[in-house]
Amino acid sequence: MTSATSLFSPVEADLRLLTENLKQLVGARHPILYAAAEHLFGAGGKRLRPAIVLLLSRATMDNREITPKHRRLAEITEMIHTASLVHDDVIDEAGLRRGVPTVHSSFGNRIAVLAGDFLFAQSSWYLANLDNLPVVKLLSEVIMDLAEGEIQQGLNRFDASLSIDAYLEKSYYKTASLIANSSKAAGLLSGVSAEMANHLYSYGRHIGLAFQIVDDILDFTASSDALGKPAGSDLKSGNLTAPALYALEEKPFLEGLIEREFAQEGDLEQALLLIADSKGIERSRELAAHHAQCAVQHLADVPTSESRKALVELADYVLSRLY
Ligand code: IPE
Ligand code: IPE
Ligand code: MG
Ligand code: MG
Repeated sequence: MTSATSLFSPVEADLRLLTENLKQLVGARHPILYAAAEHLFGAGGKRLRPAIVLLLSRATMDNREITPKHRRLAEITEMIHTASLVHDDVIDEAGLRRGVPTVHSSFGNRIAVLAGDFLFAQSSWYLANLDNLPVVKLLSEVIMDLAEGEIQQGLNRFDASLSIDAYLEKSYYKTASLIANSSKAAGLLSGVSAEMANHLYSYGRHIGLAFQIVDDILDFTASSDALGKPAGSDLKSGNLTAPALYALEEKPFLEGLIEREFAQEGDLEQALLLIADSKGIERSRELAAHHAQCAVQHLADVPTSESRKALVELADYVLSRLY
């Protein structure tokens, strides 16, 4: 399997600097937040989103050095992502994140909600200080989209009539919007054409969808140890993702189990067996692969460079997490 580290080698030094900066930026204001920041930014996040921003920044700057604004955008992107995880773990009552106990399980829900709010607020402040209105608009829309995605997911719990399209729309809001809009913003900071900016947006959108579909497959197939967060929790909590939605087309009995919210003894186990016995996982893999391919097509007009090569390989890396 391609490791994220070797893939990110063109921006490895940038990412190291980013991690240090994030701890400083977030931790400077308050000891509790310092503890939370140390905890979050010191732990094993993959830093996929800032890596994409930095790689796209390098790929669109020809031979010029990337600017402090590109770096700040990468930091803002990871800050927004991390804020969404802190809140998401409260909502999902998850005990583990990045291989360590979640903020709410270490410091309590009150601190976790405040720490998430603080991260969002701080990201907005740094965003405004980029002094670039189009970029501010792109990233503030992301913060709205994240909330929209969590709300849609909350409202659709245990709804066995959910369509794949509705699932993809929710996944756009929850995951792909941040990658798409920060990708486009990186291009805007490099001064690319409107057409190129749209290609970068589409690259990020498709990578984001592929990434979320893969994450949803791993929730069925991987262990909590391997993921650094609780596995097997989506179905149980009524979050119906691609493998379950495809399985529903083949196994009508699954519908009843879901609609009664696995109320009877053995329901959840039976549902998991039905999904494992269906083409759900396989079809989800195909859907993820489709989006990964679409992503790469949008890089066609990006000039050849080490960074562009890494962005192409990143599409494979997202899928390779499955094997
Ligand atoms: C987790 O994102 C949330 C999803 C969109 C599935 P990551 O898997 O990128 O989380 P970290 O940053 O590596 O912890
Ligand atoms: C991750 O959502 C948080 C956001 C993308 C807002 P999930 O609940 O699907 O992801 P994990 O499994 O906790 O990482
Ligand atoms: Mg979660
Ligand atoms: Mg969640």
